[in-house]
Amino acid sequence: MKIVVIQGPNLNMLGLREQNIYGPMKLEDIHAQMKGFADQNSLDIEFFQSNLEGEIVDRIQECIGDADGIIINPAAYTHTSIAIRDAISAVQLPTLEVHLSNIHQREEFRHTSLTAPVCAGQILGMGPFGYHLAMVGMTQILKEVSAMKQAREAQAQTQAQA
Ligand code: DQA
Repeated sequence: MKIVVIQGPNLNMLGLREQNIYGPMKLEDIHAQMKGFADQNSLDIEFFQSNLEGEIVDRIQECIGDADGIIINPAAYTHTSIAIRDAISAVQLPTLEVHLSNIHQREEFRHTSLTAPVCAGQILGMGPFGYHLAMVGMTQILKEVSAMKQAREAQAQTQAQA
């Protein structure tokens, strides 16, 4: 099973940008923790960060046939990007949205997420720990998806034998 982690604009600046909001942890350290969790749970994981909307759309599309689930922090594009929302919706993979900050406690323009309605769930306001929660949540989703697939295959086999 493979998870692709997609990070939007300015998240490469974590550790430098607005530490009072985002904390001191760098993106590479968050990713190292996620990789540790993935290794412990025998999951493949790949990381992608871009400041460009089209590159994020491309990476989501590339998940078809490559990934089983997506963890995404679309950052500022959360509030503006119909293109990223459409890409998430198009690939039909379980997707979890993460925000380090509680976007509902911040400026009004951050209160709306265009992407959350096409995601399986959203985790916010937990800082870098939110990415760990997303890993736990995605592991559970992937287990459920795999169990459902096995049950469907068993049912199809029983029907074919009848
Ligand atoms: C963010 C929240 C967004 O509003 C903001 O533009 C970001 C980071 C977060 O993780 O809290 O860049 O997605």
